[in-house]
Amino acid sequence: MSLKEKFNQLEKKNQQAEQSGGEERIRKQHEAGRLIARERIELLLDAHTFVEMDKFVRHRSINFGMGENKIYGDGVVSGYGKIDGRLVYVYAQDFTVFGGTLSRANADKIVKVMKLALKTGAPIIGLNDSGGARIQEGVESLGGYADIFYLNTKASGVIPQISAILGPCAGGAVYSPALTDFILMTKKNSYMFVTGPDVLKTVTHEEVSKEELGGALTHNQKSGVAHLMADDDENAMMLLRELMSFLPSNNMEDPPLKPCMDDFQREDISLNSLIPDDPNKPYDIKELIIKVVDDQNFFEIMPAHAQNIVIGYARIGGKSVGIVANQPAHLAGVLDINSSMKAARFVRFCDAFNIPIITFEDVPGFMPGLDQEFGGIIKHGAKLLFAYAEATVPKITVITRKAYGGAYDVMSSKHMGGDVNLAYPTAEIAVMGPEGAVNILYRKYNLSDKEKMEKLNEYRKEFASPYKAAELGYIDEIIYPSQTRLKLIQALEMTDNKSEQTPHKKHGNIPL
Ligand code: HXC
Repeated sequence: MSLKEKFNQLEKKNQQAEQSGGEERIRKQHEAGRLIARERIELLLDAHTFVEMDKFVRHRSINFGMGENKIYGDGVVSGYGKIDGRLVYVYAQDFTVFGGTLSRANADKIVKVMKLALKTGAPIIGLNDSGGARIQEGVESLGGYADIFYLNTKASGVIPQISAILGPCAGGAVYSPALTDFILMTKKNSYMFVTGPDVLKTVTHEEVSKEELGGALTHNQKSGVAHLMADDDENAMMLLRELMSFLPSNNMEDPPLKPCMDDFQREDISLNSLIPDDPNKPYDIKELIIKVVDDQNFFEIMPAHAQNIVIGYARIGGKSVGIVANQPAHLAGVLDINSSMKAARFVRFCDAFNIPIITFEDVPGFMPGLDQEFGGIIKHGAKLLFAYAEATVPKITVITRKAYGGAYDVMSSKHMGGDVNLAYPTAEIAVMGPEGAVNILYRKYNLSDKEKMEKLNEYRKEFASPYKAAELGYIDEIIYPSQTRLKLIQALEMTDNKSEQTPHKKHGNIPL
């Protein structure tokens, strides 16, 4: 073969590989409102940075006529590229080739980029769109999945792992995304479930659509399995890029700094009237978050699930921070099973990846109720305690109003290792609210309305304020709400070099 012929051969093979499953299948994919693997990667990465690996890999199966049916790439496009100039690894299942199903060869491609990501300390992003285990390959496919699960677990806490679900994801295949740090799902086109509607109908006689069982809304709102929801593939890739901008490449690095044009000293007078006079009146904690962070840019995670707690990323003075905030506008900001789990996982991610945690606290306590007790609020609430206590990143807390009972302890209190604990003059730090306290203390006395009011006022004066805690040094400073941004910037600067050693252990035993 001449040199020219050899080059022509390469070009022809490249073209063949890039045709994926062919025009007809690509058309079907587009008609369904989904992009194909290479189009997604192009949108995800900085222009012209994608380097594809294993483009000519083909499966080695011979059963069920597969010996004569081989396609370059074998249903997954993998490699590396850049997001905002930073290295990331990516694999995108190609639904147009054997339904994006996982064969041994296809799994080996994914395993290869995962291992490289671990060795070189860069995030890995999986774009999932697959019919699951390739039926023709049997246990070889199952083994491929298990290899991926194993590496997901090894990589947890070492490099950020992000999954986008952009089509089907069913059976055991859901467990790789579940082991990663973030799951994004597209509306309408994506679904995740362990057993599909047909099996459910036969086994449990429940009739449910795919969408209702495992669509984006279900997992973003009800189950809490997913963290982000996108309108379509384009929007999904944009959200992934934005998420990445807050994260470091690995657990040995700090998150990227972004030059901050927003005034460090900026005061916001409107914050002084955010907390209502009436302690039982709700307000929106997101208003506070948005007003103190750089450029009002708050990237909320799990916005539709357990809305009594708000979590997400922002920058303050150019530094990435993780924000955890009780939301008085939803169930009075109470801590329940779902909100505890939501916040605990977030706190642990921030801690693993050197992202300081800022906690805004306004919490009346843990949710009472049979369903909560039977559901195990003891162990789920303990998850949040555990997460805050073990976190060694800078922990900064602002108590805006209520900090009652065990919830005061949990929410990054001084006693949980809080580095800077601030409170507004409107803070109420006590074992419980005035009404509950007076009812218990004077249960045996038949107080008149006037006497009860006197006792309530006495309790409010003595306990429903931040001053007792400040007297004891549990609160470092009482601040005006308008100064919150400046105070957070000062606290972040002060804790910038924080280093805290923990006793050597294999790993803790978080209450699961
Ligand atoms: C082999 C498969 C396949 C599979 C789909 N295909 N799933 N090939 N193994 N699991 C092929 C189809 O034959 C078809 O090939 C192409 O992919 C596209 O599939 P269609 O059915 O035409 O597409 P669509 O109508 O959009 O339906 C997609 C689908 C459906 C809903 C995913 O294909 C389906 O239900 N597949 C089976 C899903 C499943 O049960 N997987 C196993 C899950 S358990 P052609 O050549 O016609 O284009 C699992 C275990 C993991 O994954 C274990 C981990 C421990």
